Amino acid sequence: MPEPVTSAGALAATVPVGVVGAGTMGAGIAQVAAVAGHPVRLHDQDGAAAERAVTTVGTHLDRAVAKGRLSDTDAAAATDRLSSVTALDDLAGCGLVVEAIVEDLAVKQQLFADLERICAADAVLASNTSSLSVDDLALGLAGPGRVAGLHFFNPAPVLPLVEVVAGARTDPAVLDTLVATARRWGKTPVRAASTPGFIVNRVARPYYGEAFRLLESGLVDAVTVDAMLRESGGFRMGPFELIDLIGLDVNLAVSRSVWEAFDRDPRFEPSPLQERLVADGRLGRKTGHGVHTGDEPRPAPST
Ligand code: NAI
Repeated sequence: MPEPVTSAGALAATVPVGVVGAGTMGAGIAQVAAVAGHPVRLHDQDGAAAERAVTTVGTHLDRAVAKGRLSDTDAAAATDRLSSVTALDDLAGCGLVVEAIVEDLAVKQQLFADLERICAADAVLASNTSSLSVDDLALGLAGPGRVAGLHFFNPAPVLPLVEVVAGARTDPAVLDTLVATARRWGKTPVRAASTPGFIVNRVARPYYGEAFRLLESGLVDAVTVDAMLRESGGFRMGPFELIDLIGLDVNLAVSRSVWEAFDRDPRFEPSPLQERLVADGRLGRKTGHGVHTGDEPRPAPST
């Protein structure tokens, strides 16, 4: 008999997991679930992107083996468990689907409507959204109780934190299952209410915003800001290095979403400079350059 999906315990490792969106986050989440033992089906509207993501995960697993973090056998087994699927319908047998597609409410709502039709009634439907309301994502669904946020941080295979986000109508058993599952996956889940930006992105918005406003003022350059925060401030990366890693487009979409949700409160206003960089295609590491072009001189250590 198949194990129940939403007992208060973790999702059994035999339960297939679907991931929709094979970009930065989807690939990482697929890797985490495959290493934890689940058969993982990765879908993207761009089939080539899904195939590329499977190859990328393979490379990351090889690197983990080289660093002694994973055995050869475990890496090979995880690789075997991960496959790309071309049709969303192929996620029908999954007990959990995590979406990591574009941060756009209407697009995500359409996806949840499709997933509700395709997946079994007891399958959990989770979103990796950085900022959107879980209630809005579940709007119009017959079963909003199975929708929750499962918000990983970049890079998902490395960073332990996961926000488990409760909408007003999310079934508490679904939240318990996600918390237990995240723990089994080696993560540190923290429960959060579905308020704009949840916890981390709420705190982070003014941080990124002020960094951009300072850059716009011309008083200091990006390399210096990053070096100061990193080398003297104890941050692992400076704000612009982090934005380049996240993707300027993704970061901007989150800023806009939180700003709108707070009735355009100036504290959260997106930066015009960031908007210009995105319009110019400077999206960060994924396009080769973002705030940083890679050509800047490193600042001399401060005395
Ligand atoms: P990305 O731009 O790297 O990848 C998004 C992928 O989704 C693309 O491959 C695209 O083809 C695919 N896609 C778009 N619409 C689709 C649809 N309707 N059906 C199937 N596939 C579709 O984006 P990224 O950075 O992976 O972000 C994805 C989600 O994760 C967003 O909601 C974002 O806010 C969130 N997030 C991003 C973080 C980051 O650091 N980049 C951190 C935590 C959450």
